[in-house]
Amino acid sequence: MRTYLVTGGAGFIGSNYIHYMFQKYDSQIRIINLDKLTYAGNLENLKGVEDRDNYTFIRADICDRDAVNQIFQENDIDRVVHFAAESHVDRSIKDPEIFVRTNVLGTLVLLNAAKAAWELPDGTYQEGKKFLHVSTDEVYGSLEEEGEYFYENTPYDPHSPYSASKASSDMLVKSYIDTYHFPANITNCSNNYGPYQFPEKLIPLIINNALQGKKLPVYGDGKNVRDWLYVEDHAKGIDLVQEKGRLFETYNIGGHNEKQNIEIIHIILDTLREMLPESDARRELVSDDLITYVEDRKGHDRRYAIAPDKIKKEVGWYPETKFEDGIRKTIQWFFEHEEWMKNVTSGSYQKYYQDMYKI
Ligand code: NAD
Ligand code: DAU
Repeated sequence: MRTYLVTGGAGFIGSNYIHYMFQKYDSQIRIINLDKLTYAGNLENLKGVEDRDNYTFIRADICDRDAVNQIFQENDIDRVVHFAAESHVDRSIKDPEIFVRTNVLGTLVLLNAAKAAWELPDGTYQEGKKFLHVSTDEVYGSLEEEGEYFYENTPYDPHSPYSASKASSDMLVKSYIDTYHFPANITNCSNNYGPYQFPEKLIPLIINNALQGKKLPVYGDGKNVRDWLYVEDHAKGIDLVQEKGRLFETYNIGGHNEKQNIEIIHIILDTLREMLPESDARRELVSDDLITYVEDRKGHDRRYAIAPDKIKKEVGWYPETKFEDGIRKTIQWFFEHEEWMKNVTSGSYQKYYQDMYKI
């Protein structure tokens, strides 16, 4: 049975990936989920998975060399899928240091542990071992012109402390590939949305605020463009890259769903109005008047857009979920998980929100 070490599996994309992998492979795989459970990590995301015999959760910090080495010593890990990171751009602007620690040092610790466990005396690696580093399109910087896209060979030009830390971690992975022939891939994905996303990010924040009649903060002129991908499509892409992709290669994941932030907000408002039954009191609260333009994000990248040509051609991946369907599924999930939202927005979230928005 193949054993996966998934880091950051209690976060948004990591938990969706674990659900997807068990749906697809059931008892053919074993997953060890290594997560520090920061504010973004939530074991509630793994309900339905935690009782499986082929699933283990380990609470640890990826920067903790001894803890990470011990996992490799005690388990014959075949695949690493590395999600764990500080992931929110706004937080990185306020406090960059933890981003460098987790995203850069943490990635180095994992690379070293996997290399030590997998390397043979002649410098080659045990058959079938693979490391996949989950990264972002933000490393490529910002596009201005319509019709321009990020390709795998687009030069790195990160602007925020978050994207600079992810770019650094990508460079470390590339250096291990080039120097040690380390068996790794990198995926650079666009903006994800879907179940279990923490409401500091645009889409769940807007859904949650709109349902409570709270203001909807729009940075700057609201015309920044992101290329939105339903999270399950990302999970599929990662799996396909590890199964069918060429080792050592980078693959961009995303594509052709570019929307301005203000468009996203209008789509969410319209979809909420459409989906809420007449009898639901929240219908009254959902209103365009909630839209509130606030100070722009510092260094705000204007536009991201992925060209997924390589992943399509080489592994047959394409974004399966249309945005109209994905956003309805997401909203439906939030309707059905009010308790989840209450739990993640109590406590420290309130302080974060007040400090961040002051509206
Ligand atoms: P998230 O913030 O929801 O989850 C991050 C997870 O990592 C949490 O469970 C957290 O507890 C864990 N973690 C943080 N620091 C840790 C540490 N030191 N040790 C162990 N665990 C730690 O993030 P996400 O949105 O799910 O993103 C996952 C990965 O995907 C990140 O690497 C991110 O850069 C990348 N990515 C995200 C997006 C997106 O749209 N969200 C797009 C492209 C790439
Ligand atoms: O592109 C991939 C990246 O997408 C990932 O690497 C990051 O981990 C992920 O957080 C995401 O980064 P963004 O900064 O693009 O996502 P966010 O949801 O924070 O913001 C999306 C856009 O919406 C961005 O232009 C800023 C804007 N925004 C965001 C928030 C939270 C607002 O206008 N108002 C808000 O309140």
